[in-house]
Amino acid sequence: MAEARGKVEAPDSVAVIGLGRVGLPLAVLLQTLGFRVVGVDVDADRVAALHEGRFPFMEKGGEDQLAKALELGFEATTDVSRTADVDAIVLTLGTPVDEHMNPDFTQIQAVLAALERHLKPGQLLVLRSTLAPGTTELVGRLLESHTGLRVGEDLFLAFCPERIAEGNSFEEIREIPQIVGGTDPESTARASALFARFCAEVFPTDPVSAELAKLYCNMYRYIDFAIANEFMMIAQHHGAEIHEVVRLVNDGYRRSGLKSPGLTSGPCLYKDGFFLTNHLPFGELISTSWKINETVPAFLIDLVKEQRSLEGLTAGILGLSFKRNIDDTRNSLAYKLKKLLWMENCQILMHDPFVESDELDRVLAESDVLFVTMNHDFYRTKIGELLARAKPGALVCDVWNITGVERILFPASEGVGS
Ligand SMILES: NC(=O)c1ccc[n+]([C@@H]2O[C@H](COP(=O)([O-])OP(=O)(O)OC[C@H]3O[C@@H](n4cnc5c(N)ncnc54)[C@H](O)[C@@H]3O)[C@@H](O)[C@H]2O)c1
Repeated sequence: MAEARGKVEAPDSVAVIGLGRVGLPLAVLLQTLGFRVVGVDVDADRVAALHEGRFPFMEKGGEDQLAKALELGFEATTDVSRTADVDAIVLTLGTPVDEHMNPDFTQIQAVLAALERHLKPGQLLVLRSTLAPGTTELVGRLLESHTGLRVGEDLFLAFCPERIAEGNSFEEIREIPQIVGGTDPESTARASALFARFCAEVFPTDPVSAELAKLYCNMYRYIDFAIANEFMMIAQHHGAEIHEVVRLVNDGYRRSGLKSPGLTSGPCLYKDGFFLTNHLPFGELISTSWKINETVPAFLIDLVKEQRSLEGLTAGILGLSFKRNIDDTRNSLAYKLKKLLWMENCQILMHDPFVESDELDRVLAESDVLFVTMNHDFYRTKIGELLARAKPGALVCDVWNITGVERILFPASEGVGS
């Protein structure tokens, strides 16, 4: 890789566009580390909440960090023209898939169109959202043709993926090495100087390798979970209990590491694989994993139906977020389960300690079947006590084995005291 032109200083001022689960912690952290930061979002309610010191979602240390950042001058705004006087602009927009499961560039397109008039020579643009391979290069071409500025000479562009687990952003963001994929040596050097100010290690590379590295991080985990879920289905076919088999595989064995089954989805894992498989017409591991993970709710319902018809029963769903100990319900499989239960003509009650939902006592007392859909510590630490309050004769479907009963389906009475 060619060298940058000379020693590059880190920028002093940064605009973060998109104050969501990724952008807000980053913006707040940068301000507390001494950068002058302006955060931009189209959501006026969110911007107003931030000025009142309210962190809009669950994030460990979020409120304290926000208070500190506001004291140090952090500003949130809906006005994209505020990017005109900063050294670096970081885009942390949503990158979902569309109705064809293809990358949806709508948010990035809208921001680029709004930004074009305000971009100044010398600015660094960092793409932080998860991107389909080739998107950074595409953004570079669009910028050049729309602004007349040359990337690598007038404007600098890099893809630096976010790899935190939401809920733990402030802890992880300074520990995880930052992958910096600049479109040219100067862009890589400038983006590296920004990230070197706050993280332990910076790995410089090219944009496509950075895009693939981020997607591979997520898909590697996703496939791991899919194997666990497939093994659950195979174990069931043979009348064996998956949690017992997982324990037999892993305990005391050097080459262990088999994951336990569970409900695996969320706004990233659900869609990121499609960024990789978009051009492939044949079946491959990633789309097969998607199919396996997305079928787990139906598998669990079929399991219950082998023992009891669901027609007219009340089903309780415990855990609505897509991941443990957070309040993010995007693409959570709890809602897929809910829909499938509705198709069985069930009454459905739902509880989550972090999401507005039905009262827990009611869910426990009225449900004929309780599905433990998320392994929140809230449930894990008191499941034995909760099941003591379950309706007499209720069944429990515990795919996570939070009860330790080591069976996916069992009468609630067997989990009491666990
Ligand atoms: N959530 C995670 O844990 C996580 C982790 C790593 C990477 N990612 C990736 O990071 C990206 C962002 O994810 P997220 O979870 O933070 O999404 P999010 O939906 O929480 O945040 C996106 C933000 O952008 C704002 N926005 C949309 N259009 C805008 C516009 N035109 N101008 C200004 N703001 C606009 C939205 O209002 C929202 O606040 C995605 O690509 C995602 O795949 C997410």
